[in-house]
Amino acid sequence: MSKAPENWFEDIYADSDISGKGVPWATREPAPLLVQWLDAAHPTGHGEAAMVVGCGLGDDALEMARRGFTVTAFDVAESAIELARERFGELAVDWHVGELFDTPTSWSRAFDVVVEHRTVQSLPPQWQDRGQAAIADFVAPGGQLMLVADLRPAGAPKDGPPWRLRPEELDALAAAGLQLEHERQVPVAHEPTRTRLLRVYRRR
Ligand SMILES: C[S@@+](CC[C@H](N)C(=O)[O-])C[C@H]1O[C@@H](n2cnc3c(N)ncnc32)[C@H](O)[C@@H]1O
Repeated sequence: MSKAPENWFEDIYADSDISGKGVPWATREPAPLLVQWLDAAHPTGHGEAAMVVGCGLGDDALEMARRGFTVTAFDVAESAIELARERFGELAVDWHVGELFDTPTSWSRAFDVVVEHRTVQSLPPQWQDRGQAAIADFVAPGGQLMLVADLRPAGAPKDGPPWRLRPEELDALAAAGLQLEHERQVPVAHEPTRTRLLRVYRRR
């Protein structure tokens, strides 16, 4: 296996601009499930360290910063980070171009809240367990991971991208030492036949 999956994201962001045109997942708003979870669990931060994985155009990272977290965010696509910087500047968020499978050792177990919104499913299936382990490693003792993934119906083929997930395909997070605290399955807005999974884990 190579050291990282193919980065097919860069071309998509390179053809876009701050409007997010042509980026299928870009809404230019923080993810609604993240906002709902923060409203309930962390309406305000007090400088805690937060990490946003696969941050794309940066809306989730900015939302965390706006609430008072100290935010680090990264994406493998250089053009995504350029657009995030152009949209939100340098001050609120520590932006990085970075590959999930090659992150700084200083990020290991360093974050109180880790946000992963639909990045695991963007990894080819053979990378998804390793991706979960890499994401789990960011979570500090006592810290939380909030994960959102699109669910694949039982029996449906695992074709992609995105390679949507079955709940049992997230077992690598528990194997990496995280405990499931909370789970919700919600229909996707305007696409009621599709379901999204929200999970919150904690490292004890
Ligand atoms: C489906 S998009 C989701 C973006 C954003 N989290 C959202 O929900 O709008 C997946 C994101 O993960 C990034 N990504 C994919 N594989 C990655 C990897 N191996 N390392 C870092 N980022 C990655 C992509 O560039 C892309 O921005």
